[in-house]
Amino acid sequence: MKEKILVTGGTGYIGSHTVVELQNSGYEVVIIDNLSNSNADVVDNIEKVSGVRPIFEKLDCLDMEGLENLFRKHTDIKAIIHFAASKAVGESVEKPLLYYRNNLVSLINLLELMPKYGVKGMVFSSSCTVYGQPDELPVTENAPVKKAESPYGNTKQINEEIIRDTVASGAPIQAILLRYFNPIGAHPSTLLGELPNGVPQNLIPYLTQTAIGIREKLSVFGDDYDTPDGSCIRDFINVVDLAKAHVIAIERILWDKQKEPVEVFNIGTGKGLSVLELIHAFESATGVKLNYQIVGRRAGDIEKVWADPEYANNELGWKAGSTLEDTLKSAWNWQLKLCERGIQ
Ligand code: WQD
Repeated sequence: MKEKILVTGGTGYIGSHTVVELQNSGYEVVIIDNLSNSNADVVDNIEKVSGVRPIFEKLDCLDMEGLENLFRKHTDIKAIIHFAASKAVGESVEKPLLYYRNNLVSLINLLELMPKYGVKGMVFSSSCTVYGQPDELPVTENAPVKKAESPYGNTKQINEEIIRDTVASGAPIQAILLRYFNPIGAHPSTLLGELPNGVPQNLIPYLTQTAIGIREKLSVFGDDYDTPDGSCIRDFINVVDLAKAHVIAIERILWDKQKEPVEVFNIGTGKGLSVLELIHAFESATGVKLNYQIVGRRAGDIEKVWADPEYANNELGWKAGSTLEDTLKSAWNWQLKLCERGIQ
């Protein structure tokens, strides 16, 4: 077994897929999660997929004493992948203080403990949200960080600065910031996928719930944008491709391959797709007709963003390889499986 890696938020959507990829690469994984937006049976499903049961402790990253006890117990944790955060754009507008406390203090707690317990580095789950509406597309890592459109996006920007300032202060740690675009799809085993609590905020879970009849109709938030078909454009990336990027980033830290103590990478496909194009791609990939309507714009949405992934492709040797068709089929198969298991 290779080094022990701590994955915070490891029972979540991206976290669980990343744990499987870490285990497939031979790493020992400790998951901590407060289960506020996921459930513990994800640990069973991770074991079914990878054949290895990760260590799991129900723990909130806001609990400094609990975190310290974890590091005292697992003194051989070599690196951290930090996913644990609140992530709903709309909710962050209604409850900004919850987002600032949870997303900032969780990170601060981990950064404080890392040097004390010999943890070498962190892969941080950041987001293309930090770019706001880029002036140039595709967007590169050198694009300016713009004023965030939501408290959620602002916490990602502030988190990146907290990490940079901590490393610059001489703390003996290093970091890789992965700026995700829009993660979609599910594990081909249909044992792992996106499990939003309540009414989905994100496009794909709402779309598949509409396709299966849980939701009556998908609302497309605006078709009057300055795009070819008027709907917003995003860079939809397969969640397993995204998970694999985390393993490469962890190994870049462990094997001292970083060129700077803090590095940033765009993790996207490099292809922009509009909401309406995605809907039609889903219909042709699955043969399922989707009931949707065009409604007004959603506050906080940016018009169009897609990655220039060249730096990640060349420097990390990572590339998003899944096809859109396979990715949409995986999302649909996951929704069918949830329905089979009686989970809405
Ligand atoms: C995508 C597009 C909507 C729902 C945010 C965060 C990002 C990441 C993913 C956490 C937009 C449209 C959506 C619907 C719609 N966060 N849409 N009808 O806002 O691009 O990204 O979530 O991991 O960091 O910024 O994702 O899926 O909500 O929206 O028309 O019912 O789909 O307007 O254009 P978003 P999204």
